[in-house]
Amino acid sequence: MCGIIGYIGKENSIKHLIEGLRALEYRGYDSAGIAYFDENNSLHSVKAAGRLANVEAKLADKPVSHCGIGHTRWATHGAPSDVNSHPHGTASLRIVHNGIVENYASIREELTGLGYTFESDTDTEVAAKLLDYYYKEEKLTAHAAIERMTSRLVGSWALGILFADTPNVIWCARKGSPLIIGVGEDENFIASDITAILKRTRNYYQLDEGEIAKVTRDTVTVWQGEKTVEKPLLTADWDIEAAERGGFAHFMIKEINEEPSAIRTTLGCRIKNGLPDFASDAFDVGIFKKVTRVHIVACGTAMHAGLIAKGAFASLAKLPCEVEIASEFRYNDPLIGEGDLVIIISQSGETADSLAALRLSKEKGAATLAIVNVIGSSIAREADSVIYTMAGPEIAVASTKAYSVQTALMYLLVIGAAMTRGKLDADSARSKVTELYERAPEAVAEMIARENEIGSHCKWLAEAEDLFYIGRGADYHLACEGSLKLKEISYIHSEAYAAGELKHGTISLITEGVPVIALCTVPSLCEKMVSNIRETTARGAKALIICSHDAEIADDTASHIIRLPKIASELAFLPAVTVLQLIAYHTAAARGCDIDKPRNLAKSVTVE
Ligand code: M6R
Repeated sequence: MCGIIGYIGKENSIKHLIEGLRALEYRGYDSAGIAYFDENNSLHSVKAAGRLANVEAKLADKPVSHCGIGHTRWATHGAPSDVNSHPHGTASLRIVHNGIVENYASIREELTGLGYTFESDTDTEVAAKLLDYYYKEEKLTAHAAIERMTSRLVGSWALGILFADTPNVIWCARKGSPLIIGVGEDENFIASDITAILKRTRNYYQLDEGEIAKVTRDTVTVWQGEKTVEKPLLTADWDIEAAERGGFAHFMIKEINEEPSAIRTTLGCRIKNGLPDFASDAFDVGIFKKVTRVHIVACGTAMHAGLIAKGAFASLAKLPCEVEIASEFRYNDPLIGEGDLVIIISQSGETADSLAALRLSKEKGAATLAIVNVIGSSIAREADSVIYTMAGPEIAVASTKAYSVQTALMYLLVIGAAMTRGKLDADSARSKVTELYERAPEAVAEMIARENEIGSHCKWLAEAEDLFYIGRGADYHLACEGSLKLKEISYIHSEAYAAGELKHGTISLITEGVPVIALCTVPSLCEKMVSNIRETTARGAKALIICSHDAEIADDTASHIIRLPKIASELAFLPAVTVLQLIAYHTAAARGCDIDKPRNLAKSVTVE
């Protein structure tokens, strides 16, 4: 949700804090700030509402510092403003915080009674002043004061802390929000994720739930309660190019362009002798013989990827599969237990609702599997098994390549499930795997090569106030993803509708000139889709059809038709989603939107 960075070392920390915050801006970008020790070991804060550039402008006198912490914010408590920006603190300390302190109101009241005053509306300032109380008034050590303060908080946090009287130390703590400690040469970092420090180091420690750490220029000490913990030093296999725009106008379009290679990388290491093989993930597909039902739980785009997998579980593996929105899952008394497999799909592996759904599923006795992109993330670590997608870092808030690899990987998994359940023979499985691994990335690349043609359809879409996506079966699930993508980056209101359901009410919204994007990749549903499209054009809709290469659709059915390349129809979702992503991208670009940083959103949603 928010991004945290900290630097301590031989170089000027300000440069590294700003660079780190720039890399983390995708996590939140409504305000930013830093706290640092100057050359005389005095502690300063500089913070501002709006983009990071506003903080940089306030640092025009280029202070020299070797230790500091920084924060880029996605507001929860208190509107984005200078005063609500992090760091918060007192003369004795500064903190930056990612997460939510749920019981901040009662603690604020208590501290007010003790004489503390508050200038911001944030929950974080309450945590800072509570820490000040234990450190200054109760005179606890830094470690004990942090321990005591966090023991009082209800909620989630990743914290970076500076104490004014120890200018050579950064403290940090974690519960429920991710935090890593980067280990460099003569310098160390704290960061919300590895992309913030990749320019300096790929070696890091992952802070675990409840841990507190003390970081100096050349030491890292981690405690769980009173005990120090030996942590394994991890090495990220992402390189810095993967986390940079590399000549593309936006991360989103760069990431769409990475889809073919991301699909191949994700699948390649899980195919042996032309068949699915998850041995390197230590995942036994034999589980699909034992389970009676699969539940896929996820949020947003990851949930839409689950919907595609649900269709494949039914048609190929003949295994019932439910897809549930993670934020609803817990509150719907889910009937799960032994015999169920819960699959959590998540790019970040840190989505709070998905993590909570995972924990509940484990509590209820279900087996759990995580399909996650970020190695070592909370969901990856807590699930019984994990299969990593290998998309590389996804920086744009609008998720694109993550969906492509999630759906491709799930499809491979379903082929494995179908085989183990005796529903698919080896030859049929092999030809499906070949089509998935060889042909699907090519088909995606062919659509990317047609970016200009697809973009040319977007000028009229960009003028729309409302827009509808329709489809049947897998195409309806694609429609959901296309609509979400358009909404989040172009701010055009749009709805995804099951095409057959339109006439049960919603068709009343179709008036002259309303754009309807119709997905038509399922051959058996094509005729019915054409009827549904005609129902809308008869009422004035302007239709754009995305269909399979040989769909029997007359040219006069719609104003625009985009035909996909030749590919097995059950895999058409892969090139089709690329088209939908390109439509969202070019429509948002035509409207002049800030594509990689859409309003009100953040990449990683670590609060419920
Ligand atoms: O990191 P996750 O995959 O768990 O994130 C889930 C959603 O927050 C995410 O897919 C969101 O819907 C995207 N911004 C959509 O583009």
